Amino acid sequence: MAAVQYLRQLLPALAVILAASAHADEKFALGKRLFLEGATPACAVCHALKDAGSEGAIGPELDEIRPDAARVARALRSGLGVMPSYAATLTEAQIDALAHYVSKASGGAP
Ligand code: HEC
Repeated sequence: MAAVQYLRQLLPALAVILAASAHADEKFALGKRLFLEGATPACAVCHALKDAGSEGAIGPELDEIRPDAARVARALRSGLGVMPSYAATLTEAQIDALAHYVSKASGGAP
């Protein structure tokens, strides 16, 4: 009986955790789409990133610099060198999704 009660308490918590991770994966998928073709110009044109299968060589290889999410978002908002700013063409939610995707896919801090 104790085990059943324990499970009853555990299930809602599990449901919350599963819902949260499904949400995070959606953000990852959205970021990947933006990386490949949603952003203009597309990140893939200039950056190599294994997860995206891109081989652009104008900007740094993202698997090598492994930027954390804040570093990606900063580059997108302000631009850097020949990399254009995306502040006018991407929404905050899109910048957030790209920062999540690039940091997670490259192994940088979230
Ligand atoms: C026209 C080519 C070009 C495009 C398109 C481009 N980048 Fe870049 N990116 C660069 C270059 C060049 C640098 C290095 C700039 C420097 O250090 O002077 C860079 C740097 C970066 C950095 C490192 C920032 C840092 O702090 O060192 C990240 C992260 C990044 N880009 C992500 C992206 C993402 C995500 C996109 C798509 C939304 C994108 N880039 C689109 C050329 C590009």
